[in-house]
Amino acid sequence: MLIAGNWKMNTDVDSGTELAADIAAAVKKSDLGTVALAVCPPYVSLTSVREALGETSVALGAQNVHHEDEGAFTGEVSAKMLLSAGCSHVIVGHSERREYFSESNQDIQQKVAQARANGLVPILCVGETKAERDAGDAKNVVEQQLRGGLAGVDFGAPDDLVIAYEPVWAIGTGDTATPDQANEMHAFIRGLLDDLYSSAFADDVHILYGGSMKPHNAEELLSQPDVDGGLVGGASLDAESFIAIAEHGA
Ligand code: G3H
Repeated sequence: MLIAGNWKMNTDVDSGTELAADIAAAVKKSDLGTVALAVCPPYVSLTSVREALGETSVALGAQNVHHEDEGAFTGEVSAKMLLSAGCSHVIVGHSERREYFSESNQDIQQKVAQARANGLVPILCVGETKAERDAGDAKNVVEQQLRGGLAGVDFGAPDDLVIAYEPVWAIGTGDTATPDQANEMHAFIRGLLDDLYSSAFADDVHILYGGSMKPHNAEELLSQPDVDGGLVGGASLDAESFIAIAEHGA
């Protein structure tokens, strides 16, 4: 089980560091068993959040990465920069990047490949819009996003990749996928990973659910056989809620 927090464009350096310190303190007091945690703050807070997380095993992730190694790409951040800031993970292909920054499956594939080549674990996000689900197209869309995003990229071990299924209609809306809807799509994604890699790989890769996961609905979602954790937005901005969600996975 992996519970990752995507802070999106929230918190500043001070409040983000404070949130990380609160999470670190809460982790020490809870019994999370084998549940792993990760937080993905904005770029500017990565190093101070890393410091505040201290000796805890909470992993650090970024929310984006550029696909080139280095160079004249004003405003962009490379995989090596993320590694130097202490990141082990990076979110790639979030629906907000697809929608507001016009990222295509091809752009996303380049970022997945760049993360992988540098030893960062990509958290590849896939998910359909409401219109696509209503049209009966949800699985087609997810398949294209998954195959497109992973095209030509190999992974040594299942821990080198994380998939997040995030139905766009459930993100920030309070309108969660039902546990059955989530599990059905996760099982479908696992089947695609089996086809792309191997059944052993597909069995062990983490497939997270994202979209209005909160302490009150986490238990039901996380108890589904193909749901291996959550990518949490809003509720990850409060240490107590974030840890409460993780406790439901324990
Ligand atoms: O990356 C996280 C997702 O977009 C979910 O966000 O928990 O605020 O719905 P949310």
